[in-house]
Amino acid sequence: MAYETLLVSTQDGVTLIRLNRPEALNALNSQLLGELCTALDAAEADDAVACVVLTGSERAFAAGADIKEMSEKTYAQMFKSDFFGDAARRIEQFRKPIVAAVAGYALGGGCELAMLCDFIIAAETAKFGQPEINLGVAPGIGGTQRLTRAVGKSKAMDMILTGRMMDAAEAERGGLVSRVVPADKLMDEAMAAAAKIASQSPLAVMMNKELVDAAFETTLAAGVTLERRLFHSLFAFDDQKEGMAAFVEKRKPAFKGS
Ligand code: CAA
Repeated sequence: MAYETLLVSTQDGVTLIRLNRPEALNALNSQLLGELCTALDAAEADDAVACVVLTGSERAFAAGADIKEMSEKTYAQMFKSDFFGDAARRIEQFRKPIVAAVAGYALGGGCELAMLCDFIIAAETAKFGQPEINLGVAPGIGGTQRLTRAVGKSKAMDMILTGRMMDAAEAERGGLVSRVVPADKLMDEAMAAAAKIASQSPLAVMMNKELVDAAFETTLAAGVTLERRLFHSLFAFDDQKEGMAAFVEKRKPAFKGS
């Protein structure tokens, strides 16, 4: 599949998707989001793919939704097309892990796209923000909800109402990103994390992802019950037998996804 706004490659169970609109700091337009959905469909359908890494350039992960594409839109057009709804749902429903590798700007829709991923590894150069207030609008791909859950009310309000940016160190302190690394180590670190995930049982990986996601949607009691049920159900798979046998026999497990 040829993409105009993405560079996509797959190796050793990991699909790397690089946003590629350098002239617009990877601003998210309809074409890019459509191509991203197509690339995710392909990664989901391919049993050889265990994990996705999503990244941008050294200068920008993505500087937001494309303001030039949006600026003349009417309320009726935004509402009827459910602008950004399809892409956001596609990413939310993707069942394999997506690691965001963020360098440079992750602003507005770019920050929201990173937060739609399962975890974020940031370069020291990363800058996160929801500056939509400066444009007279609000975040539209989950920013008010996901940033608040990630960093708490006070920091989220500060970021969203003032439009200020947060650097990588503040993002790590606040819990928005899982690790910060030197910029020249970002891709090695993200690809190594993805390779580690790809070496695990794909069934256990999917269930673990579902369980952590459930923590945002359910009560503690319901989440803990769901966890126990899925934990029990993992004993139905060969991969559980292999994982535990390998531990006992002091060897590396060879998971088959069955
Ligand atoms: N949409 C469209 N084009 C964008 C863009 C965006 N979000 N962000 C940057 N660009 C374009 C610029 O227009 C510029 O293009 P030209 O050379 O054709 O003028 C090019 O990318 C380079 O940008 P700058 O010259 O502005 O680069 P800079 O280094 O001076 O500043 C920046 C970088 C601080 C990120 C600045 O570009 C900026 O503030 N961008 C907008 C950030 C923003 O407001 N994002 C939120 C968008 S709204 C949104 O995302 C809604 C939502 O939640 C769904």
